[in-house]
Amino acid sequence: MFEVPDVSHPDAFEKGFPHELFRELRREAPVYWHEGDYQGGRGYWIVSRYEAIKSISRQPLLFSSASGISVEDREENFVSMIALDPPDHRRYRSLVSSGFTPKQIAAQEPHHREIVRSILDAVVDQGHCDFVVDIAAELPLRVIAELLGVPQSACHDIFDWSNRMIGSQDPEVVVGLEEAVGAAQEMFLFANTLAEDRLKAPQDDLMSAILHGEVDGQRLNTTEFDSFFLLLAVAGNETTRNLISHGLLLLIEHPEAQARLREDPSLLHGAVEEMLRFSSPVMYMRRTALEDTELDGQRIRRGDKLLLFYPSANRDEALFDEPDVFDIERKNNHHLAFGNGEHFCLGTALARLETRVMFEGILARMDDLELAGPISRLRSNLIDGIKHIPLKFSRSGA
Ligand code: HEM
Repeated sequence: MFEVPDVSHPDAFEKGFPHELFRELRREAPVYWHEGDYQGGRGYWIVSRYEAIKSISRQPLLFSSASGISVEDREENFVSMIALDPPDHRRYRSLVSSGFTPKQIAAQEPHHREIVRSILDAVVDQGHCDFVVDIAAELPLRVIAELLGVPQSACHDIFDWSNRMIGSQDPEVVVGLEEAVGAAQEMFLFANTLAEDRLKAPQDDLMSAILHGEVDGQRLNTTEFDSFFLLLAVAGNETTRNLISHGLLLLIEHPEAQARLREDPSLLHGAVEEMLRFSSPVMYMRRTALEDTELDGQRIRRGDKLLLFYPSANRDEALFDEPDVFDIERKNNHHLAFGNGEHFCLGTALARLETRVMFEGILARMDDLELAGPISRLRSNLIDGIKHIPLKFSRSGA
């Protein structure tokens, strides 16, 4: 049997997602028990095949999210819908889901285009930039701040807090978990001050919808509100930033695909799906078995943790022809980058729109895209993140 490293450890992803290892796992041991985790826990199942990941995601009462969605057993002092099971989960999700329908999101396209224009205006004449900080991070940040009802002047606080939370395993970002908890507390304090205003005078934003909405006839308490705010602020921000960053690297690595998109920007819809499949910025979500059960011939015991590795599902040769080929015109691209089932990403339409509009702007206004130095990756076991991409380019068009 081949050696399987501890993929709960952030260092396992130092060079990016280990696709070779996962190809072997899918073939030899699609549901594999890893004894122990990097924090001294009992261990976890690595689930690597598409069908198994989809099937687990569709059985939330057998494979629960309520004990946590990352491998670590953290003592959480907040409740968030991403870590709730039915029926509670649905009640919380329904407070905000109407703000994320494809129709609601599509109406924002002209506005996204304006934001992209102003982001690119600030860099196109320079000929170089840090693509992640100057471009990729900006659009998701400004959009989620607006949707929530956070003043634009506070956008960079959100950037900083969510970096510190997501980057709790990365020494460049923070020194440890305490710092991440501190960032969450700062965010809560900020959110609660804004909430006082919105309680008195509701506006047309998500924060007001959360505060004035009711779950089982009751308004959310402060802890529930804080958790909601944090989830939306972080989930709507880090993930799309990384998709845009990976998308840029993919277009630099695949000049023929980039040229096709410049000729025919309508291909961007499919290209964004392929960027999602190929890069899968969320590496896994965890479930916990609530009963003894069986999966692909393995006996799963009640209480066992299962890690659903989306980048592996998205390269599963049982589903995708030539899965390691980046093909912007791929047909039937039913990837699992947004998960599936009960917790299927709330922000799919938003992330897709942001990414497409961003690349429309980039391809229209920037030529000769080239790396100007090494990229630096986020040290994380959860998010396939990129912190910096030094980029050179020339200005094109208007
Ligand atoms: C490329 C961008 C994105 C990716 C790859 C992504 C990925 C995911 C995944 C894999 C899940 C499933 C979690 C699970 O099954 O346990 C999820 C859930 C979620 N995502 Fe996203 N996401 C992205 C963008 C966004 C955006 C822009 C928002 C905006 C607010 C968002 C909000 C959420 C929320 C609230 C959930 C929890 C849904 C629930 O529990 O019902 N995501 N996302």
